[in-house]
Amino acid sequence: RVPTAVLISGRGSNMAALLDAAADPAYPARIALVLSNRADAGGLERARAAGIPTAVVESRAFKGDRAGFEVAMEAMLAEHGIELVALAGFMRVLTEGFVGRWQDRLVNIHPSLLPSFKGLDTHARALAAGVRLHGCTVHLVRHGVDEGPILAQAAVPVLAGDTEATLGARVLAEEHRIYPAALAWLAAGRVRVAGEIAHVEAPGADGALAN
Ligand code: GAR
Repeated sequence: RVPTAVLISGRGSNMAALLDAAADPAYPARIALVLSNRADAGGLERARAAGIPTAVVESRAFKGDRAGFEVAMEAMLAEHGIELVALAGFMRVLTEGFVGRWQDRLVNIHPSLLPSFKGLDTHARALAAGVRLHGCTVHLVRHGVDEGPILAQAAVPVLAGDTEATLGARVLAEEHRIYPAALAWLAAGRVRVAGEIAHVEAPGADGALAN
């Protein structure tokens, strides 16, 4: 099983979904570390309760020194023998150097149907734009923020009367479904990247999500 780190900044519900999936010994990734850039991230407690090693590298302690912050993170990743990194509500932008070193081994979940609504406040912006479909995307991380080959997406309807909270909750339920699936494909070596496109080999029943 591929030793995997989950990087968080907050409540860690996607992290919890990954931990739950990886509790199955047949799951191809093993969550070997949960790393947060904030000591007060709620997800840390959940990880500790599950007996998963945790680490905190306070981004605030490295104000203006992104490279130094990443050196400290890399040391933690190396210490735990990490081979795959899953960003799960990790709210720091990574440098080109870090992204390059982890190319095709670094995955992110974003709460919109990329390439629409990159960045923050995606649910409010989807409501303001009047889109009828919204959703979430799991993608390999590239240098540009919220850019990179797409591994999985799920769409949800935007319903009359939706608020940021109701729409966000509908999207989040899908995040918890597609992130464990997409990480499994990557850990199992089923992802082939050709330019900007990721192909998932032999996706079986998950095929509709994959390609
Ligand atoms: C999730 O909705 C995730 O997609 C989003 O933050 C939330 C974290 O929730 N990520 C981003 O916005 C990345 N820019 P969680 O901590 O409960 O998983």
